[in-house]
Amino acid sequence: MKRTKIVDIFNPGLIGTEVSVMGWVRTRRGNKHVQFVALNDGSTIKNIQIVFEMEKFSDEELKLITTGSSIHVEGKLVESMGKGQSCEVQAEKLTVFGTADVETYPLQKKGHTLEFLREKAHLRPRTNTFGAVLRVRSALAFAIHKFFQERGFFYLNTPLITASDAEGAGAMFQVTTLDLNNPPRLEDGKVDFSADFFGKPASLTVSGQLEGELGATALGAIYTFGPTFRAENSNTPRHLSEFWMIEPEVAFYDIEDNMDLAEEFIKYCVQYALDNCKDDLEFLQQMYDKELIARLEEVVKSSFVRLTYTEGIDILKASGKKFEFPVDWGTDLQSEHERFLVEEHFKRPVILTDYPKDIKAFYMKQNEDGKTVRAMDVLFPQIGEIIGGSEREADYQKLLARIEELHIPMKDMWWYLDTRKYGTVPHAGFGLGFERLVLFVTGMTNIRDVIPFPRYPGNAEF
Ligand code: 4AD
Ligand code: MG
Repeated sequence: MKRTKIVDIFNPGLIGTEVSVMGWVRTRRGNKHVQFVALNDGSTIKNIQIVFEMEKFSDEELKLITTGSSIHVEGKLVESMGKGQSCEVQAEKLTVFGTADVETYPLQKKGHTLEFLREKAHLRPRTNTFGAVLRVRSALAFAIHKFFQERGFFYLNTPLITASDAEGAGAMFQVTTLDLNNPPRLEDGKVDFSADFFGKPASLTVSGQLEGELGATALGAIYTFGPTFRAENSNTPRHLSEFWMIEPEVAFYDIEDNMDLAEEFIKYCVQYALDNCKDDLEFLQQMYDKELIARLEEVVKSSFVRLTYTEGIDILKASGKKFEFPVDWGTDLQSEHERFLVEEHFKRPVILTDYPKDIKAFYMKQNEDGKTVRAMDVLFPQIGEIIGGSEREADYQKLLARIEELHIPMKDMWWYLDTRKYGTVPHAGFGLGFERLVLFVTGMTNIRDVIPFPRYPGNAEF
């Protein structure tokens, strides 16, 4: 008999038919006449109840069905008389795929803390919470491709290994095949990277943007969606050492077009989750965050406030609020400042533009004032910065001057400058931190809980 996934079994048309279900046992309870098993197969947050009449099964058989064990059941799907479920399977045939020892199975009990589950990252996808988060994550990834593909953007794969350190977005992880105990050395004692795998030092990328610009200035509109790596020692609930980023880049776009795209994009993703992940979001709302669905609906309805960094600083200074980090024109905003603007002052998402050039990357379009650049950060409730982007400097001379001012080595940059040398065009783009979007949509509070296998300082176990 063909297996039915549990997500499909609640289809009313199946009542009265014979079904075959497979999954992992969540709980078993009952008495010597009848036993009830809650079975989950990962396809939905919902469990299907399996009813074992003890005249058909032996104690010996049922003893194997403990929390975490995996089974196959065939039987008739009937309407349920009990509370809490619409239908149940009356077991006729049982196969145990694998047992799970009651003494050692780590998820034996319900209600483990998220901290405990982080230590059990290899098994936590089997919990309700992580099942829900991972299904929402998957739906959001699909929504992202759908959004861009429907609008004629091309998916561009940019390299993960790079020999350029130009972006300056963060400290990099080095990639080498040299023997670290005995590397080849030059006469002055420095390591001889010409003997390394790529003939020069290489690292894991912090962003696909620079190569993304090569794509955009050829295909018109591209997006990347891949992992990026940052070796900062940031132990915060918003930072990972390995995270996924979506970076659209569009030729002939200015910063206004870029802001419109960012706003439409993020609302589309949130709406997609509301439309397609109802059961999981309701579960997460009930367990962790009573305001979750209302907040998501609010963001989709709201129009994002747009103001300049300078205006933002004025509001923060005039607020009279005591911040841990003081604010002054020229300093980078901390998440407490971003969240004040979004959660307390405007009470909706904010796009801040025109940041001081000294706290932003070299490639951003320089404003007439000589002090600011056409940067844009999208700030979100609960999260702070969710998107960072800009219109790019399209003028060869101005870009070159900035590269020289910042002492960025030309050997890293010649290929990038060629986009400005040959057929340069105005263009713009941004990067969305995928895990920050998943954080927002699931209402979880620690970024380590929205990626299956988090990488952060000191942690690469699973
Ligand atoms: O602001 P960032 O550093 O921008 C860039 O990398 C540009 N190249 C993007 C572009 O214009 N194409 O990073 C973009 C976003 C941030 O807004 C944040 O959401 C996320 O990536 N992010 C992180 N997420 C998790 N862990 C980290 N360590 C992150 N650093 C940035
Ligand atoms: Mg940023």
